[in-house]
Amino acid sequence: MLNLLSRIISPNEIVLKKGSLIRLKYLEGKKTIIVLGQSSFEATENFQKVKTFLSASKLEVDIIKLPSGDPTFDSVNKLLNHFHVYNPDIILGIGGGSVLDTVKIARLLFENNENIIQNISQNFSFKNSIRKTQLILIPTTCGSGSEVSSVVVLKENESSKKITFVSHSFIPDIVILDPSVLISLPINLIASTAIDALTHALESYSSKLSIPFSESFAKIAAFEIKNNLENAITNTDQILVKEKLQIAALNAGIAQNISSVGASHAIAHALGALLNIPHGVANGIVLSKVIQLNVSASPKVMEILNFIGFNSVFEFEVWLTNIQLKSDIPNKWGLYLKDQNKNIINELAMLVSEDVCIKTNPKRFSMEEIQNILLETK
Ligand SMILES: [Fe+2]
Repeated sequence: MLNLLSRIISPNEIVLKKGSLIRLKYLEGKKTIIVLGQSSFEATENFQKVKTFLSASKLEVDIIKLPSGDPTFDSVNKLLNHFHVYNPDIILGIGGGSVLDTVKIARLLFENNENIIQNISQNFSFKNSIRKTQLILIPTTCGSGSEVSSVVVLKENESSKKITFVSHSFIPDIVILDPSVLISLPINLIASTAIDALTHALESYSSKLSIPFSESFAKIAAFEIKNNLENAITNTDQILVKEKLQIAALNAGIAQNISSVGASHAIAHALGALLNIPHGVANGIVLSKVIQLNVSASPKVMEILNFIGFNSVFEFEVWLTNIQLKSDIPNKWGLYLKDQNKNIINELAMLVSEDVCIKTNPKRFSMEEIQNILLETK
């Protein structure tokens, strides 16, 4: 019953602005584990700062790097084993959405004395009564919103299926948003992760679960992304622009966490599962087509597009295509097919129809409509 209520569950503390990494200097604990992805963050000056601040807190520090790609049951179980051996009281996740998702679920299992992820049987089944650790997340992209999300999406090892887990106990204790970590982010990653955040904002606004509280976060997030994204990929050294995108992504993440998303995400999950298409890229490929179909189902679909300055879905599509071209990210998913003759439309459509995000889309899509979107965006 509790989970059917419109509730706002958020981190205890969100630290903003350039220089906010210094928050790490004031942590209290004994053993910290830093969890990183395979990105270049480890070679940056910011990572040196992280280590310096932690040593100023007199914390023992261990570092583990996760494999690249989507988070899987395997990567979670390996991280969990490491937690059981090292027994940290502070867990620090630094990276994009995949790293943060892996850390969130491994921490929850660790605190519940579980040894394998398969023990999570249904959403909201895991709650923490006693916290053993402090979870701190530092996103290094500007889009996933994982740092404020009660959702974790994992890929099953054997199959290509993506499984969504929901627990408010995934929410971290502290989020640090320092825009300086975005300065070295390549243009294609800035664009694709910001498009993911824009999709969170647009889809949550017209979601079946949308409420006025989440609408305000969605509107301001979509507005800021539309007005700053082109500048962010053209003038990459502008820290204030990066900061605006980072905060917009946080706001979009809050909106998404309250109201969920829609069909674009359901399709992006399927494209990511079967073809390993990065999540933000996949959302960008299908978003305009999904919006086109949704317009007839809810006035809110056009309402938010108008709010951010578009008079039609076509105008939005032109703007988005321009961003994709300028940042060199694909706007068709067929490019990711290894075997061009293989027909995977039905397999993709089946995954889409089973995805939890399709349920909150303003329009109920038929299988034929899902297949058409896939055909048109191939
Ligand atoms: Fe997303």
